[in-house]
Amino acid sequence: MSKKVVLAYSGGLDTSCAVKWLQDKYGLEVICFSAFIGEVKDAAALRKKALAAGASKIYIEDLKDEFARDFLIPGLWAHARYEGGYPLATAYGRPLIAKHLADIARKEKAEFVAHGCTGKGNDQVRIEVGVRALEPGLKIIAPLREWEFATREEEIEYARAHRIPVSATKQSPYSIDKNIWGIAIEAGVLEDAWRLPPEDAYVMTRPLNRVPKQPRTIEIEFNKGMPVKLNGKRKGLVDLIESLNQIAGMYGVGRFDQIENRLVGIKSREVYEAPAAEVLLKAHTELEGLVMDREFLHFKRVLSEKYAELVYYGLWFSPLKNALDQFFKSNQDRVTGKIRIKLDRGHAVIAGRQSPYSLYSEALATYSKGDVFDRTKAEGFVRLWGLPYEGLGRKL
Ligand code: ARG
Repeated sequence: MSKKVVLAYSGGLDTSCAVKWLQDKYGLEVICFSAFIGEVKDAAALRKKALAAGASKIYIEDLKDEFARDFLIPGLWAHARYEGGYPLATAYGRPLIAKHLADIARKEKAEFVAHGCTGKGNDQVRIEVGVRALEPGLKIIAPLREWEFATREEEIEYARAHRIPVSATKQSPYSIDKNIWGIAIEAGVLEDAWRLPPEDAYVMTRPLNRVPKQPRTIEIEFNKGMPVKLNGKRKGLVDLIESLNQIAGMYGVGRFDQIENRLVGIKSREVYEAPAAEVLLKAHTELEGLVMDREFLHFKRVLSEKYAELVYYGLWFSPLKNALDQFFKSNQDRVTGKIRIKLDRGHAVIAGRQSPYSLYSEALATYSKGDVFDRTKAEGFVRLWGLPYEGLGRKL
């Protein structure tokens, strides 16, 4: 009996060729695994394709709920954005895939796992580091780092020769990875850093010349850090995220175009769309800002930056990342309230905030009647606050 490999399978050309290649090159029985986390896929068609390529079986799992609860919520609480922009959609997807690859490998008593990531990206790191952190004994094969095909045409030829079904639909000129937290669009003309991305690169957001002229105000309600209602209607997490993608996407919210520092040392030009992530990150940050004190908020920004790096670098299953999760979780009980956001021609603008735990006091802040702030105390405060610096200014 041949040894087994569990392959993270997308149904695309690369992983379809990988099924056959793993059999030929390593003599392995190939078990496919596909996670549904927000891309549109047809399970029956995917199963057919995998089996036709030579897989002995395929696990197809709808993991949106787990993805949202265990990956996106911690990331939301962390306010994580890599290099200040990218909300990390792909980067959350990979450790989820790693976890399930390890689970299936254990169940199937497979000695190997394999994936279709290239040797130039972050995704290979995230999957492999994740798998090894969870199941150190597994051997990992990355066909795309090893095989002889240099071009897409060679792969297609290999597929034809081995009767591997190749999708008849026209190939997108871009490399795309999508889940409910956003989409990453790379390659093709986007590699020219001087050029504006062509409009056909975008799939989740409308261009500004096609957004509704009238702005729209939406309301998100949080309960203990969890977004629970949209416009007053209770919604499950996945549903809420998908609705926000649709609504905010219609207003052109959540486009990013950045030069990014990959872990493998390459700078790459990345185009992202993440309407729901953009709105939720803004809303949660705003609400937390209302209910938490200055020192916490300022220090958290430093940790958010670190957290985003850890996630981006594939260190999801790591002690520091886990410890930071505990930190970000520690105050979520207070993050209850409502945020109003105006969607207006590509922008998501905070339009109102409210919380039973609000630390904002109009009576303290006001410059009008009803001021309760005791300004006579300010003089002494300012004097002592500046005392150390008076010492520095004294003539030697
Ligand atoms: N640069 C992003 C990241 O590293 C997106 C990667 C997109 N992956 C893909 N297979 N197209 O997270």
